[in-house]
Amino acid sequence: MWTGYKILIFSYLATEIWTEGSSLSGRDVGLGAASSRNHSSSEGCLRDGQHFKEGSVIKENCNPCTCSQQQWRCSQHACLVRPELLEHINNGDFGWTAQNYSQFWGMTLQEGFTHRLGTLPPGPTLLSMNEVTASLPTHTDLPEIFISSYKWPGWTHGPLDQKNCAASWAFSTASVAADRIAIHSKGQYTANLSPQNLISCCAKSRLGCHGGSIDRAWWFLRKRGLVSHACYPLLRDPRPDAHACAMESRAAARGRRQATRPCPNSLEKSNRIFQCSPAYRVSSNETEIMREIMQNGPVQAIMQVHEDFFHYKTGIYRHVAGSREESKYRKLRSHAVKLTGWGTLRGAQGKKEKFWIAANSWGKSWGENGYFRILRGVNESDIEKLIIAAWGQLARSDQEP
Ligand SMILES: *[C@@H]1O[C@H](CO)[C@@H](O)[C@H](O)[C@H]1NC(C)=O
Ligand SMILES: *[C@@H]1O[C@H](CO)[C@@H](O)[C@H](O)[C@H]1NC(C)=O
Ligand SMILES: *[C@@H]1O[C@H](CO)[C@@H](O)[C@H](O)[C@H]1NC(C)=O
Ligand SMILES: *[C@@H]1O[C@H](CO)[C@@H](O)[C@H](O)[C@H]1NC(C)=O
Repeated sequence: MWTGYKILIFSYLATEIWTEGSSLSGRDVGLGAASSRNHSSSEGCLRDGQHFKEGSVIKENCNPCTCSQQQWRCSQHACLVRPELLEHINNGDFGWTAQNYSQFWGMTLQEGFTHRLGTLPPGPTLLSMNEVTASLPTHTDLPEIFISSYKWPGWTHGPLDQKNCAASWAFSTASVAADRIAIHSKGQYTANLSPQNLISCCAKSRLGCHGGSIDRAWWFLRKRGLVSHACYPLLRDPRPDAHACAMESRAAARGRRQATRPCPNSLEKSNRIFQCSPAYRVSSNETEIMREIMQNGPVQAIMQVHEDFFHYKTGIYRHVAGSREESKYRKLRSHAVKLTGWGTLRGAQGKKEKFWIAANSWGKSWGENGYFRILRGVNESDIEKLIIAAWGQLARSDQEP
């Protein structure tokens, strides 16, 4: 009984707070479900001094509001962008700042988590993989700051934008593989690899834009291989799954594979297939991860994304819980990103803090030019829990067709 009452109070407060921050005046906002009474209702509703007819529908962030009996009645979904969480983060001293991203405005929290991530939680196969230790001599001094793109200019690849395709499993894998093929070939092959090739063709992970597993992605890189991103670019269709796989490969000499079709776009002629060695797991030890990156290139990390992460603009990310503890506003899902370097900086409360530099797949307008920094050495958001890498597979017989 009391619980039910509390929920009522909460949802009332929620509406009040929401109303304050929105452009609807309190008077015009309905607090509950529409009643079935029917007024003579020619008067309609007001919004920003503008008149709306009875039955009009407008959208307040992620919630549609209907003008019914001279009142706006809004659905009560939790939205992905929550102005009071933005304020809480920006008024606090958490080491990072938040931004209201227009690409997320209007999405529900559920939609954000459903469409913008897309890596299945690592299964037992991945978690039981043996850890491989970098062969860099243990006494090697690790620099205070390391940035992959400085050590290997032109050989590493910046973030793409997965948009509403829940395929971070494909974006992060293709990106790590591309960087490593460029690094291990000493710059002979510097093409970015095609996440679309994985999304559309990795049949064993049929989910495509509805999430997938990275062990399947790495299996595909080893057994089938990918063409370049220029050859098989991202599809613009909002339903990418509607597209059949437009690139096949078949076995050629010495375990290598060849494309059986031209690129599915007329601008790029090279349909070379790129492959990797079996993926391996890197230790969760911070020092080991650093050594692996410095020696062999960027690595893949599976992290847990909380609702505040979407708002990240700049600084060193650490999870910040909203001031309201309602479960409605909380969510957690796994996501795959690429770790590209590290550093230290004076962060929250003026303390010196260690961070990783990571590439996300939400485009360059998000975060620090598509990248983010996150606390290092404390397993923040599980960022150090599962680190995966592979070798670019390069045969001496490689020849452009
Ligand atoms: C309310 O009025 C609308 C027309 O404005 C009408 O279509 C609808 O049937 C009425 N509903 C009830 C419950 O009287
Ligand atoms: C956030 O951005 C959207 C559009 O990009 C804008 O309509 C909205 O008013 C902004 N909200 C806040 C709280 O700044
Ligand atoms: C991580 O590995 C290094 C050696 O590379 C070792 O000195 C250190 O103690 C390890 N840290 C942990 C927490 O195991
Ligand atoms: C990281 O945190 C997760 C969950 O809190 C835990 O399962 C995992 O073992 C941790 N990993 C390390 C390396 O501390």
